[in-house]
Amino acid sequence: MENIIKVAFFDSKPYDKKYFNAEIQNKNIEIKYFKDRLTEESVKLAEGYDAVCVFVKDDVNENVINTLHKYGIRLIALRCAGYNNVHLKTAYKRIHTVRVPAYSPYAVAEHAAALALTLNRKTHRAYFRTRDSNFNIDGLMGFDMHGKTAGVIGTGKIGQILIKILTGFGMKVIASDPFPDEKIAEKLGFEYADMDRLFRTSDLISLHCPLTAETRHLINKNTIEKMKDHVMIINTSRGLLINTADLIAALKTGKIGAAGLDVYEEEDEYFFEDFSGTFLTDDVLARLLSFNNVLITSHQAFFTNEAMTNISGTTVSNIIDYFEKDELPNEVCYFCDVKPCPKKNGGKCF
Ligand code: NAI
Repeated sequence: MENIIKVAFFDSKPYDKKYFNAEIQNKNIEIKYFKDRLTEESVKLAEGYDAVCVFVKDDVNENVINTLHKYGIRLIALRCAGYNNVHLKTAYKRIHTVRVPAYSPYAVAEHAAALALTLNRKTHRAYFRTRDSNFNIDGLMGFDMHGKTAGVIGTGKIGQILIKILTGFGMKVIASDPFPDEKIAEKLGFEYADMDRLFRTSDLISLHCPLTAETRHLINKNTIEKMKDHVMIINTSRGLLINTADLIAALKTGKIGAAGLDVYEEEDEYFFEDFSGTFLTDDVLARLLSFNNVLITSHQAFFTNEAMTNISGTTVSNIIDYFEKDELPNEVCYFCDVKPCPKKNGGKCF
């Protein structure tokens, strides 16, 4: 019998165990679930394993990678698409990193649309009113999405699906991406525009680009100034795309009319955890939550049955493919944001 592949699984939640345990049935793989996030303090838990499995809040920084390498860990298996929390430069040529490139772009795009519809028609507030026998509709007025302009930043898998949804509402969609795909634009019926025009003309702006050095704080005081008054901002990508202090300032003046946030700059401490028995110490998050035109969800855009099935399925095959076949179809590396990718034919990065 071949050696069992031993995986240290960090930041595990009950729903992870349910889907991953079902996936590893009758496979040559054993998972030890740790509730801890992977950090410089918890990395010692990984000693003796072959691979680590991590999610968005695990901090796979230079020191953590150096220690994992010392322990002989050969694979970092991200069970998400984003890889900004892994210091790929340090991992390069030492530990391979794999991810789940797409688990359900529909889940995320549909959640972005849900945030926009809720904020526009204020159903989050109507729910509480009618439950309290208050049937007054004053203050709940929205606008027709039909005929308005949506600006979509990033026209990858999720951005394209959202564009289809928004054009279905009858919105005019403009989009920005450093790698425009004119064929897709023609097929889906949207137009590429530079970022400046997108900021100046959009009634709704939705972010679907990755977090990179270039996109960090893409939404800031200067870019907000260019936007239309009362614009709606939706962010289901990464919290650091928005400078939260600048967002709050613009919400206070009414420049920004509404914000739907599934991600937040400092989400690591709070998101995915239950603080209902205590209080928030993050004054910025508390301020955001105090606006009735801000809707925050806890990084749940991906969270559908279909996505969890794809996440567990792809992650387990990523691990088995590497250890049993030396194949890495979903590898990411230091050069991933360079297009065209220098990796040859979708093979290994190094
Ligand atoms: P993708 O890789 O298919 O598309 C990203 C697009 O952004 C690409 O077309 C790329 O060229 C473009 N882009 C790169 N730099 C840009 C820039 N400076 N300005 C405008 N566009 C730029 O990725 P996908 O699957 O569409 O995911 C997008 C993001 O959504 C991920 O990076 C991740 O951060 C986030 N995400 C959030 C989830 C959640 O649960 N909230 C779940 C899954 C992904």
